[in-house]
Amino acid sequence: MALNKIKGLKLDEKERVTVDYVKGILQPTPTCETWDQIWNFQAKPDDLLIATYPKAGTTWTQEIVDLIQNKGDTDISKRAPIYIRIPFIEWIIPEIGSGLEQANAMPSPRTLKTHLPIDLLPPSFLEKNCKIIYVARNPKDNMVSYYHFQRMNKALPDPGTWEEYFESFLAGQVCWGSWYDHVKGWWEAKDKHQILYLFYEDMKKNPKHEIQKLSEFIGNNVHNEILDKIVHHTSFDIMKQNPMANYSSLPVMDHSISPFMRKGTVGDWKNYFTVAQNERFDEDYRKNMANTSLTFHFSL
Ligand code: A3P
Repeated sequence: MALNKIKGLKLDEKERVTVDYVKGILQPTPTCETWDQIWNFQAKPDDLLIATYPKAGTTWTQEIVDLIQNKGDTDISKRAPIYIRIPFIEWIIPEIGSGLEQANAMPSPRTLKTHLPIDLLPPSFLEKNCKIIYVARNPKDNMVSYYHFQRMNKALPDPGTWEEYFESFLAGQVCWGSWYDHVKGWWEAKDKHQILYLFYEDMKKNPKHEIQKLSEFIGNNVHNEILDKIVHHTSFDIMKQNPMANYSSLPVMDHSISPFMRKGTVGDWKNYFTVAQNERFDEDYRKNMANTSLTFHFSL
């Protein structure tokens, strides 16, 4: 199907989605057009929300959470693609419809996904005291991953050259806005609400420990053998081969340009940042992180 015929997606002449602003934050146009409905989304107290800046390890966390909830049963976790099992509330999925509609049609207890910064989160999530899992990733790797994702995903704008993208990312002129505002905003909210704040790098270093933390937070304690099974099933190599987790079923993504399951490593930024870009980034990082207690894993 031609991309410009897909329900809910507005694509420009290069068959790319268009973008606009919601409260100063860039978003794909379909999200902007349905913003009132998104903002007024009615969360329920037993909803579990997975919140991330794009490319911080969302899918990995979703797969882990789904397996925890299903006691490590991999047949159940393969019942549907990850974007069906866990609706992405502010997204219009080509050929499928909106995450909002999916969420509204889903029986409770629901697990949902968002990339929204805390200031744009539909207020009902905090009003209903929902449990929220937030995952942050080192910004340098996050940037590289996002760049490649925009190259392969026509539901996001063309990222331009790496040099251009580097500037857009630092300026917060990418969809879902500034990485700094995102990670800091959620960090500041974490002590006032039921928010478990995790780091991609910790998940890489000691997945079993982080999965255990997740299971305690969710309240579905799983025993040791199941934990080991979940660690195995959610390893990068296994998820890359899993059609229910690797987004191979979405035509809007061209995995021949860059696979969704790209590298799954810590420190890939070193293959992209020039010395000058790295210095510039570190300076910008110091300025933007001066006013927060959030410290990041820079031991790459
Ligand atoms: P890279 O592009 O650096 O490889 P998201 O799900 O938020 O879109 O994040 C995607 C990033 O997480 C990609 O990073 C992807 O490869 C990585 N990823 C996905 N599953 C993973 C896993 N099981 N282990 C480690 N990284 C994973």
